Amino acid sequence: MLYRSFGKDNLSISQLGFGCMRLPILDGDVGKIDVEEAAHMVQKAIDSGVNYIDTAWPYHNGQSEIFVGDFLEKTNQRDKVYLATKLPLFHLDETTDFYATLDKQLEKLKTSYFDFYLLHNIDDKKWDKIIDMGIFDFNKYAKESGKVKHLGFSFHDDVETFKRVIDSYDFDFCQIQLNYMDENFQAGLEGLRYANEKGLPVIIMEPIKGGKLAFNLKGELKEIWDKHNVNLTPPQLALKYLWNMPEVSLVLSGMSTMEHVEDNLKSAESFGIDSLAENEKNLIKELEGFLVSKTEIDCTSCKYCSDCPQNIPIWDVFTLYNNSKIYDDLKGSIGSYSRMDPTRRADSCIECGLCESVCPQNLTIIDYLKTCHKTFTE
Ligand SMILES: NC(=O)c1ccc[n+]([C@@H]2O[C@H](COP(=O)([O-])OP(=O)(O)OC[C@H]3O[C@@H](n4cnc5c(N)ncnc54)[C@H](OP(=O)(O)O)[C@@H]3O)[C@@H](O)[C@H]2O)c1
Repeated sequence: MLYRSFGKDNLSISQLGFGCMRLPILDGDVGKIDVEEAAHMVQKAIDSGVNYIDTAWPYHNGQSEIFVGDFLEKTNQRDKVYLATKLPLFHLDETTDFYATLDKQLEKLKTSYFDFYLLHNIDDKKWDKIIDMGIFDFNKYAKESGKVKHLGFSFHDDVETFKRVIDSYDFDFCQIQLNYMDENFQAGLEGLRYANEKGLPVIIMEPIKGGKLAFNLKGELKEIWDKHNVNLTPPQLALKYLWNMPEVSLVLSGMSTMEHVEDNLKSAESFGIDSLAENEKNLIKELEGFLVSKTEIDCTSCKYCSDCPQNIPIWDVFTLYNNSKIYDDLKGSIGSYSRMDPTRRADSCIECGLCESVCPQNLTIIDYLKTCHKTFTE
């Protein structure tokens, strides 16, 4: 495992962190973590040098924090890792909720402190709202009470808002979405460099774009790949692209199988700063152009919309749609869509808008669902 020096305290943090948002599940139910398998996977990562674990209130419908807390307590490893969770800003309406939620999370995670605590998913509107609600006093309290060691924020809005947030509070770190398809999306590379100039460590989320950059090598993608003579797999290339950059402090991956863990651990052992070869850079440039041009619905399957009252697996519908373009295989996607439970297809949407209110990518989900259903059925 390669380690990077993190922040003003020069903490030594593994360059791969375990994101607990996509743990293995049972019966296809996001809220039912396969606890035994997930424990094996996290243990394997820790045994191989991973020392940063990221969770959050809403992951796995509230079960991710409980899993991580139980796991660290049972295995007596709380002090072996840096533990990160997030203040769920979407659920909080009163200032007192900030304080009560932090205490509730300490209880859920069976710990007296968090090494890293993030204001979850800040955007332009939320930032103004929580400032009015007294977030700065809360931040001060969280650190002075010793309940939080390092305070940061995670972010999914545009780069101008990102700079505004950084400039208006003395955060210890931040977390942004970045991968080679998103160089100019949200905070992007410009945001990464801005944070770096300000001395703020940057944690990367969605490095494989939620699995979209672990694509199958077929059709046009295979032709592009083969041209460049690169001896890596697609997920390996996606991770190497990020670890190549000195501005990146840590890359979180949401691994869902033991194979993902083993593969990403292997990558984290050898892909360091300035390790990207010229042919790999050229391949990335070409892949980025191809994938951006073919991806109409920029969904990363984060499953923040899993509370859909109609139980529509929105991310699966969008993956079918994008794959029909990327692999030029509309027939395949129509076949998969027709095999879905009819009560959970896109046309079951009642347009309540719950999904759009939580989507970190700000997708117009209701309209996209209509487009998908029409494409797959007419
Ligand atoms: N604060 C926020 O707003 C926020 C938002 C998003 C994420 N996060 C945090 O950041 C973490 C990382 O983001 P992410 O989960 O989106 O990471 P990611 O690494 O981009 O996506 C994880 C997915 O990529 C695929 N994958 C990973 N390693 C692979 C491998 N070696 N081979 C093949 N496929 C592989 C799997 O997809 P399949 O299962 O489809 O195969 C896996 O579920 C999250 O887990 C979460 O902790 C935070």
